[in-house]
Amino acid sequence: MCGIVGYVGRERGQVLSTLENVPPAVEFADSSADEGGRHGALDVVMEGLRRLEYRGYDSAGVAVLTPSGIESRKKAGKLTNLVQELAAEPLPRSLTGIGHTRWATHGGPTDQNAHPHLADQGRLALIHNGIIENYAELKAELLAEGLTFISDTDTEVAAGLLGVIYRGLKDGGAKGDVLTLAMQQACQRLEGAFTLLAIHEDQPGVVTAGRRNSPLVVGLGDGENFLGSDVSGFIDFTRRAVELGQDQIVTITPDDVVITDFFGNPAEGTEFHVNWDAAAAEKGGYDSFMEKEIHDQPDAVGQTLLGRSDIKGNLVLDELRIDESILRSVDKIVVLACGTSAYAGQVAKYAIEHWCRIPTEVELSHEFRYRDPIVNEKTLVVAISQSGETMDTLMAVRYAREQGAKVVAICNTNGSTIPRESDAVLYTHAGPEIAVASTKAFLAQITAAYLLGLYLAQLRGNKFRDEIATVMEDLTEIPAKIQTVLDNADKIKQLGADMSEAKSVLFLGRHVGFPVAMEGALKLKELAYIHAEGFAAGELKHGPIALIEEGQPVVVVMPSSSARNSLHAKVVSNVQEIRARGAVTIVIAEEGDTSVEAYSEHVFYVPATPTLLAPLLTTVPLQIFALALASAKGYDVDQPRNLAKSVTVE
Ligand code: M6R
Repeated sequence: MCGIVGYVGRERGQVLSTLENVPPAVEFADSSADEGGRHGALDVVMEGLRRLEYRGYDSAGVAVLTPSGIESRKKAGKLTNLVQELAAEPLPRSLTGIGHTRWATHGGPTDQNAHPHLADQGRLALIHNGIIENYAELKAELLAEGLTFISDTDTEVAAGLLGVIYRGLKDGGAKGDVLTLAMQQACQRLEGAFTLLAIHEDQPGVVTAGRRNSPLVVGLGDGENFLGSDVSGFIDFTRRAVELGQDQIVTITPDDVVITDFFGNPAEGTEFHVNWDAAAAEKGGYDSFMEKEIHDQPDAVGQTLLGRSDIKGNLVLDELRIDESILRSVDKIVVLACGTSAYAGQVAKYAIEHWCRIPTEVELSHEFRYRDPIVNEKTLVVAISQSGETMDTLMAVRYAREQGAKVVAICNTNGSTIPRESDAVLYTHAGPEIAVASTKAFLAQITAAYLLGLYLAQLRGNKFRDEIATVMEDLTEIPAKIQTVLDNADKIKQLGADMSEAKSVLFLGRHVGFPVAMEGALKLKELAYIHAEGFAAGELKHGPIALIEEGQPVVVVMPSSSARNSLHAKVVSNVQEIRARGAVTIVIAEEGDTSVEAYSEHVFYVPATPTLLAPLLTTVPLQIFALALASAKGYDVDQPRNLAKSVTVE
């Protein structure tokens, strides 16, 4: 939640003083950068905010350092409001700037509560992502010292604190990079989750950041450096990035990146290369990122499967650097995730238990650590997160590791925190997912979790090589089958548009179709703001059938008639039961399953595939349905109300 960008550059040939008072940890310095510093701060920051807007879109703001001091503009609402504000009140060219796009926590989405917040008599500007838990106590302390506050935010308190510390250090005779020293001391006083970025008019060419439990990555340029909540914040300018650890301070100048802990001790980051380019994060001719990402799905699955077998046909997961003996001794798997990622885990549970015979639980991360779960050295935790920053999942990962469990992250975002804090990571290669509603990440997560399941089955001898090879072959056919679903989506698209007046849509599924039904309902809730609920079809008569009345749309994810005929028959009975009570049924069935036509108002066929892999196909029409229904209502499908892509607060 909240997107953060920071930039410093220099004009060609301009020499800026280097940092003093901080350890010379300049491992990322680029001394050959004489030709660098090509960009203006405002351009870089605004481009970064455009790309990071999916992280929060309640308000946006920027601050730049100009010869006459700090100048700031901020505006409630989407970034476009800030763009208009900047057109009306332009800012001068600058080489030092910060920018923020907000998802409101403390204080409503107003101009006043938007970031940056100023302190030290307007000489310091600060932006923040996270929640300062002890802000009330700090605010009381600062009020007693005579500070005044004009917003309702915890961020303004952090700015005030930083300003007071900075002024105290200056008045006490501190020299050199006082902003970094002040940031170190301020972070020592803060509790909660935060990424803070600050600039001060005394220090042109310097942006300082402090980080605890909220995301921040550094972008390395040539005579310029960048900070971003994630690499999209600077992907237009560089693909060299540095991932940071917890409780770190990072200060960037055009030629230096200096990392310390909160006490000024040198600390390290890890450089990595971003393996996608700016074009991957564009709409590519589609009306929305969501539509584009739905169409990216054949690739997302294909790329995630790539390079997983050795020449003997064994499945290899190079990244899975956990001792094989530990993996062999695992007696329980716990999948931790939230939202769509949790549904990916629920799908995977069916396959992992079937292939590996290891009991597998799937738990919402935020429930997990508050219920005294039984987790120990023999537990393998699989943390699934597209962003790698979901705070609930991060906290659950930390808890699980404290109990001795090994944690494998399934993640789509390089340089993010969850993989960094896990014992191993299996990256999904879905490419950047910008739309708030997750689509391609979901299919890639199921694919990666299946690879993990097959790998464990191979390692533990639950499956023979040829059995694993058969599943891998089936998986390899999935991208083309998804493409077939996409190529034949007109009917479901039209149906979605035609149902735009629906007040409620129910989803039914059974076996792996059950989490698919819940995922379909989630898509509709978050995009179309209507009541939607996913049920296990067998549960209907235990209560939910009371919801059925004349005209109630019900989407049914039908099990394969050829592979699971007893389940199929049961769901057909369920369909008849609800139709008898007036439901309008929309059935997603396997090609050739003409038997369902007698019981359905609308049938949408997907290619036949083995049951465990079916979610990789049956989910797609549900995504398209939700997209079409929400679009017909005129809603912004990429940035649904009240949501943010990356949930970095608990
Ligand atoms: O980044 P993560 O996968 O950890 O995010 C988890 C959920 O917040 C996320 O899947 C959310 O439910 C999506 N908006 C659903 O479309």
